[in-house]
Amino acid sequence: MKQVIKGGRILDPASGHDAAGDLWLQDGKILEFTKPGAKRPGQNDRVLDAAGLAVAPGLVDMHVHLREPGAEYKETIASGTRAAAAGGFTSVACMPNTTPPIDNLAMVELILSKAKSQGVVNVYPIACITQGREGRQLTEMGELKAAGVVAVSDDGDPVSSPILMRSALQYAGMLDLLVINHAEDKVLSGKGVAHSGFMAMKLGLAGVPPSALEIMIARDVILAAETGSRAHIPHVSTAGGVNIIRQAKARGIPVTAETAPHYLVLTDDCLQGYDTNVRVSPPIGDTADQAALIEGLQDGTLDAIATDHAPHSRREKEMEFALAAPGICGLETALSLVLTALVESKKLSLLEALRRLTLNPAQILKIPKGTLAPGADADVVIFDPNADRTVQTSEFRSQSDNTPFAGWQVKGQVAATLVAGKVVHVLDPYQEKINE
Ligand code: DOR
Repeated sequence: MKQVIKGGRILDPASGHDAAGDLWLQDGKILEFTKPGAKRPGQNDRVLDAAGLAVAPGLVDMHVHLREPGAEYKETIASGTRAAAAGGFTSVACMPNTTPPIDNLAMVELILSKAKSQGVVNVYPIACITQGREGRQLTEMGELKAAGVVAVSDDGDPVSSPILMRSALQYAGMLDLLVINHAEDKVLSGKGVAHSGFMAMKLGLAGVPPSALEIMIARDVILAAETGSRAHIPHVSTAGGVNIIRQAKARGIPVTAETAPHYLVLTDDCLQGYDTNVRVSPPIGDTADQAALIEGLQDGTLDAIATDHAPHSRREKEMEFALAAPGICGLETALSLVLTALVESKKLSLLEALRRLTLNPAQILKIPKGTLAPGADADVVIFDPNADRTVQTSEFRSQSDNTPFAGWQVKGQVAATLVAGKVVHVLDPYQEKINE
């Protein structure tokens, strides 16, 4: 079947294209994009009217927690991928801190088969670095990679042992498999639950010093340099972390990095009020950290924006700040927060912001996504970058609603999301613009 998404603003970071046009799809693949009205749709072609809307490659989130198996009360592959589609994401890489963890072939096959039968977007499993996420023995990375994992990570916990991390990089490097180490020195972070600084002290919350995160980033950079293997630093949250990565890249060390939307829009001022929805690991930094992260995104030190979508039930959040589970439900607010914090304020162009949400994470994971090149899978997001909306958790497709952004006025509304040419999410008012 042929389809055309007509009259939108087509943004394709891979080719640098940002102009009005029509995007043609056929049999689940991108056919081409043409000047507006250059070709007429045939009688049987489906027409999607994108007038006034942006049309871009479906977003790629390289860091989500889908919670299945083991914590289906927080999220499932079905609900998490519906949340992804509602947020404009067409591919997600899911972290292995499930119960049991994704550390063997059977678990990878389970995730892939559930994703196929119940997921509405592409799911790429990430497997553990160490068996049981216990930090003692490496997983069988060769067979895990052959089964389809795109990276290894013990996310939520670091690989504390430097010798094990060095071996992990050597082993993964031979397989050209990405290693994503949760950058946190647990001895230094101790019982900390908030960025150590004035606010934490004022509120009586135990602090996590930036050194707890930055020592681990520095260690991993040194090990990546020594082994020549690719290391990816997740959820970078501090100015010092950005600096270490900037210097590493300048020296040609194979390191890539991501930050998350919440670090771009919140500072530790948000701790006032003890809202457990801002409890996240690593913690939200201060204004200098926030400015450095934005600068890091601007100059390419930080390659990607990933949500670290971490759904938790109310039962795990409605308690004392220090005892609440860390994490923010991010899939359904990410695009809007990026549009509000970076694009509207002209810190990044829309095309460059999208590059960090599409092509860059796809390239880091080495998956053929994040592009509108002819022949690529027709994974597309259609959205209004200028819409004003209020974040309403009642609209969340996620099974959880742990977000500090409820009630926030933000920019941007996803109108429709297509995976392999199939509409997997459409906003009600937009439905009539799709002529089946
Ligand atoms: O806040 C977080 N929550 N950070 C992590 O690294 C793990 C995540 C989770 O799994 O809840």
